[in-house]
Amino acid sequence: MHSIIGLFGLLGGLSLCSAAPAQNITSDVYFYGDSPAVYPSPEGTGTGSWATAYEKAKALVAQLTDEEKVNLTAGVSSTTGCSGVIAAIPRVNFPGLCVSDASNGLRGTDYVNGWSSGIHVGASWNRTLAHQRAVYMGQEFHRKGVNLLLGPVVGPLGRVAEGGRNWEGFSNDPYLTGALVYETVQGVQSSGVGVSTKHYIGNEQETNRNPGVEDGVEIASVSSNIDDQTIHELYLWPFQDAVRAGSVAIMCSYERINNSYACQNSKTLNGLLKTELGFQGYVITDWGAQHGGIASANAGLDMVMPESTLWGANLTTAIANGTMEASRLDDMVTRILATWYQLNQDTDFPAPGVGMPASAYSEHQAVIGTSSDEKGTLLDSAIEGHVLVKNTNNALPLQPSRLVSVFGYDAKIPDAFDLTFTFLSSSPPIQNSTLYVGGGSGANSPAYVIAPLNAIQQQAYQDSTAVLWDVSSQDPDVDPTSEACLVFINSFATEGSDRPGLTDEYSDTLVTNVAGKCNNTIVVVHNAGIRLVSDWIDHANVTAVILAHLPGQDTGHALVDILYGRANPSGRLPYTIAKQASDYGTLLHPSEPQTPYGLFPQSDYTEGVYIDYRAFDKQSITPQFEFGFGLSYTTFDYSGLNIQKSNGTTSEYPPSATIQEGGNPHLWDEIVTVTAEVQNSGSVDGAEVAQLYVGIPNGPIRQLRGFEKVLIASGQTVQVSFSLNRRDLSTWSVEAQQWQLQSGTYQVYVGRSSRDLPLTGEFTL
Ligand SMILES: *[C@@H]1O[C@H](CO)[C@@H](O)[C@H](O)[C@H]1NC(C)=O
Ligand SMILES: *[C@@H]1O[C@H](CO)[C@@H](O)[C@H](O)[C@H]1NC(C)=O
Ligand SMILES: *[C@@H]1O[C@H](CO)[C@@H](O)[C@H](O)[C@H]1NC(C)=O
Ligand SMILES: *[C@@H]1O[C@H](CO)[C@@H](O)[C@H](O)[C@H]1NC(C)=O
Ligand SMILES: *[C@@H]1O[C@H](CO)[C@@H](O)[C@H](O)[C@H]1NC(C)=O
Ligand SMILES: *[C@@H]1O[C@H](CO)[C@@H](O)[C@H](O)[C@H]1NC(C)=O
Ligand SMILES: *[C@@H]1O[C@H](CO)[C@@H](O)[C@H](O)[C@H]1NC(C)=O
Ligand SMILES: *[C@@H]1O[C@H](CO)[C@@H](O)[C@H](O)[C@H]1NC(C)=O
Ligand SMILES: *[C@@H]1O[C@H](CO)[C@@H](O)[C@H](O)[C@H]1NC(C)=O
Ligand SMILES: *[C@@H]1O[C@H](CO)[C@@H](O)[C@H](O)[C@H]1NC(C)=O
Repeated sequence: MHSIIGLFGLLGGLSLCSAAPAQNITSDVYFYGDSPAVYPSPEGTGTGSWATAYEKAKALVAQLTDEEKVNLTAGVSSTTGCSGVIAAIPRVNFPGLCVSDASNGLRGTDYVNGWSSGIHVGASWNRTLAHQRAVYMGQEFHRKGVNLLLGPVVGPLGRVAEGGRNWEGFSNDPYLTGALVYETVQGVQSSGVGVSTKHYIGNEQETNRNPGVEDGVEIASVSSNIDDQTIHELYLWPFQDAVRAGSVAIMCSYERINNSYACQNSKTLNGLLKTELGFQGYVITDWGAQHGGIASANAGLDMVMPESTLWGANLTTAIANGTMEASRLDDMVTRILATWYQLNQDTDFPAPGVGMPASAYSEHQAVIGTSSDEKGTLLDSAIEGHVLVKNTNNALPLQPSRLVSVFGYDAKIPDAFDLTFTFLSSSPPIQNSTLYVGGGSGANSPAYVIAPLNAIQQQAYQDSTAVLWDVSSQDPDVDPTSEACLVFINSFATEGSDRPGLTDEYSDTLVTNVAGKCNNTIVVVHNAGIRLVSDWIDHANVTAVILAHLPGQDTGHALVDILYGRANPSGRLPYTIAKQASDYGTLLHPSEPQTPYGLFPQSDYTEGVYIDYRAFDKQSITPQFEFGFGLSYTTFDYSGLNIQKSNGTTSEYPPSATIQEGGNPHLWDEIVTVTAEVQNSGSVDGAEVAQLYVGIPNGPIRQLRGFEKVLIASGQTVQVSFSLNRRDLSTWSVEAQQWQLQSGTYQVYVGRSSRDLPLTGEFTL
């Protein structure tokens, strides 16, 4: 059915015209659905930790003129290096705001670090690391006067295997992503810098993410058509954790959801975010993602970036003529200013964007963002996201006494790194130098880069051994006395386009060329997303393979620590690697506009929650390397599964409980605890990621619902414990509009990966 409200959502049309020209919308049969109307926009109430900030904000708002209020709701053109700027209001001593990219380090300036990317943190499965990395990253943004970090990313969630931005997020699983975003939000914000968790919501592909014109015809953004249960159990889940952690802003995305643009979708903004999750901060647009005027304000949008051609004085006109309530404008501004107080940015905050050059090589002050305390975490965050997936003949760790040979374009440092900071925006499928971050707004600006080849040279210097290298040929000669041949390839991805595939022929041929000549070939892949390995994974001469992801500036040092056994690999795959691309089915490629739907591209999420390992499990497809998989230089044994129902296991769940940030507080009631023993049965110390999966009655075969990363000394045993709360064990009921525990038998699995689960048990609720 195509309701009037649906049309409003579609055209952004409560009053102001949409940015998109009139379109032929006579064909409602093409639409999967529309987005329910949820009005009015809930006002921020200042719940929980926000009370004082809201009081102060309200007092300040009371002093502002309408024009000043309006000015706080949209950016002005930036004369600093900030990605976006809210102008100062000197009359009330408000210095303005600087918001800047992004999730993996501050981009576009000097004297900051290039941190490991989201996917690398996901592969670390380490909450403490996620937290520490975020604290230090936040401190760098603080020193540069950045009020809001434009990240972290939890959407995309990796629905589309070729998705161009999957690497910016942590993983393809909502639970793992949620746990890591929680730590990231708290870490960054503990440094006094806000985050804008993004991209809300259903931003699962780059293809057609923005409206465009083809053959003179306006084409809308792709519509992510997501049913209510799927959005709760998958895509909203990590946003819920981010809101619970106090994320002061949420960035709405480019896509449409159920045919209504994300930045004017009243169901997702007013409904899910501000009502159900009780969000107290403000909604900020992605750059240029505003398509409706007053419609977007009424739908719950609070701030437009980089500038708004639709709001401005129109907001006050709309209030005067009754199309918008004055209280909505006050609420927008209250949310924005409350955030400024909540982070104590009203006291002791540097000038917005201090020391960030407005453009490459323009005059600017040298403001040091880095600090020597960060070094340990910077290196650890680079190490822990490496995933060892093959290791035969004791190939690793290396014990070279004479000579290693190094091959492949990915071993070397780029020819130049300059302050235009855009060199990584070249085209997929590969970057012709070592890949330590992906491209686009999620790229970063490293203080230096230690490429693998440089770090290996340094190791040879220390060991008094030798290195031979050829990092330009695809078919290099091999010294037959090499003890090991290290081949470096990568798999690039960038914002703005989806990846052309999950392999590339140039790199695969390079690997097989070396393996044909060297019986101890060790392959290192810097992969910005899923990378298939079937062309050479079973080659007898390929003795070890590391999926090295995107480690940031310490990439070479981190790798060499692993290669030489100073660090024991502890990363685990945060996604599934298939044997062949077709195993991802319809989720391999992004949705493309099709005739006759061309004007309004549709992406129907008919697979429900069955993405990544949930889909492989359901369809009984054997992956090459399953979600959660990764090797170590030691081995771990599991025993002693114990399942305990906690007090209050009952279905007591007051739906009327006062909503706190993150939703109904009873979602976090502990229902069941699970413990197990893990022994390090090998000869070296190492870290294991103990994983807990639950089969909820009538749900997917199993879903990750707990993990604990523990360092275990050789021969020692430790206990791991997992706390399962109400949300972990519930299914979203569309009918009841709440999470519900299921009656029946729950399956419990504990082990090393999603398919290597030595301990099994069950309980009944
Ligand atoms: C609009 O829809 C009508 C009715 O289906 C059709 O006849 C017409 O060709 C369409 N116009 C465009 C520009 O697609
Ligand atoms: C999208 O449409 C589906 C199917 O009608 C509905 O279940 C869901 O709540 C809608 N979601 C949004 C955000 O509009
Ligand atoms: C509001 O912003 C406009 C455009 O940047 C500016 O010209 C005007 O002076 C601002 N008004 C106030 C009261 O700050
Ligand atoms: C997790 O990360 C922290 C911080 O970098 C590190 O100290 C700790 O050893 C890591 N935990 C494990 C089990 O590897
Ligand atoms: C008001 O909206 C119209 C488009 O509807 C736009 O052309 C105009 O620039 C807007 N005014 C301001 C002050 O932003
Ligand atoms: C109210 O004001 C807005 C903003 O200028 C304008 O777009 C809209 O058409 C007006 N509506 C009425 C009913 O006057
Ligand atoms: C990478 O760069 C080297 C050196 O410039 C060149 O020889 C090689 O062909 C390039 N490889 C690719 C795949 O572009
Ligand atoms: C493995 O490497 C050796 C050289 O060490 C070579 O002779 C042999 O042909 C290679 N094996 C394969 C299957 O390519
Ligand atoms: C690999 O090749 C080297 C040198 O050619 C040889 O000494 C060694 O035994 C071979 N190793 C295996 C496992 O075949
Ligand atoms: C919860 O369980 C603990 C330990 O079994 C017990 O001491 C406590 O009284 C119980 N609390 C409630 C409210 O039942």
